[in-house]
Amino acid sequence: MSSIQTVGIIGAGTMGNGIAQACATSGIRVVMVDVAQAAVDKGLATVAASLDRLIKKEKISEADKAAAIGRITGSTDYAALAGVQLVIEAATENEGLKVKILQQLDAMLAPEVIVATNTSSISITKLAAVTQRADRFIGMHFFNPVPMMALVEIIRGLQTSDATHAAVKALAEALGKTPITVKNAPGFVVNRILVPMINEAFFVLAEGLATPEDIDAGMKLGCNQPIGPLALADMVGLDVCLAVMDVYLKEFGDSKYRACPLLREMVAAGRLGRKTGQGVYQY
Ligand SMILES: NC(=O)c1ccc[n+]([C@@H]2O[C@H](COP(=O)([O-])OP(=O)(O)OC[C@H]3O[C@@H](n4cnc5c(N)ncnc54)[C@H](O)[C@@H]3O)[C@@H](O)[C@H]2O)c1
Repeated sequence: MSSIQTVGIIGAGTMGNGIAQACATSGIRVVMVDVAQAAVDKGLATVAASLDRLIKKEKISEADKAAAIGRITGSTDYAALAGVQLVIEAATENEGLKVKILQQLDAMLAPEVIVATNTSSISITKLAAVTQRADRFIGMHFFNPVPMMALVEIIRGLQTSDATHAAVKALAEALGKTPITVKNAPGFVVNRILVPMINEAFFVLAEGLATPEDIDAGMKLGCNQPIGPLALADMVGLDVCLAVMDVYLKEFGDSKYRACPLLREMVAAGRLGRKTGQGVYQY
């Protein structure tokens, strides 16, 4: 049983509104804050549309939807966060921006409030250090789409306390998720393994060992992966995959994280995947 009953969320975008939905459908009250009312409204509308799809699939009732929506308050004012027990920061992935947001939160929240960040790539230990509550700071890395994905990576910074870890782990379980606990390091666990695998698929492609279709079929049928690594790269964005490899190379200083030159070449050509209509495959 989680003792956290009210959660603040910073950012009403893809991840923020997904986390809001996961909390609200689990009986937890949410205050979701974004900079503009239009962003708040869009986030709330996304939750409503997602719940409508669940009604259509007969997973929830109209009453469940109304109750969940009733638990979410949207605001453009950080003062609306008064009284929350935990804040999950899910704003745009930009270190300078996150530092500003975290310092603002740290100054206004009661001392016992835990602050979590959903960052994919910034050091939890480093972000914790810009606050006065490094022991009550932690990473909560949700996966997209949040309402569907079962995993939460819980990342302990160097100074995260056992009590903070326990509280956040209990919350993840109360949301129906399966948490795994990870020490802070670039890429945490999942992306640390996933992105180099995608990069290796580009090396296999570049060496002409097999066609893209056969590489993807091999990994789907031989490893029971739901999607092949090259098709996945097109979904994630080739530019994102390249940026992640470059971060690993820099942070670990280990040449095993060298990005495949073909991946770099395709990014230079603007073939970024589904979002540009062409990546490894044509869309
Ligand atoms: N999209 C993914 O697949 C994914 C998966 C895991 C983690 N993440 C991480 O989650 C975080 C959010 O990503 P996203 O995909 O939801 O981004 P997004 O662009 O969809 O949403 C970010 C939101 O933050 C808002 N914002 C910016 N500055 C703010 C401020 N000062 N106060 C309040 N809100 C502010 C923006 O207006 C926007 O609505 C990032 O740290 C990202 O790395 C993303």
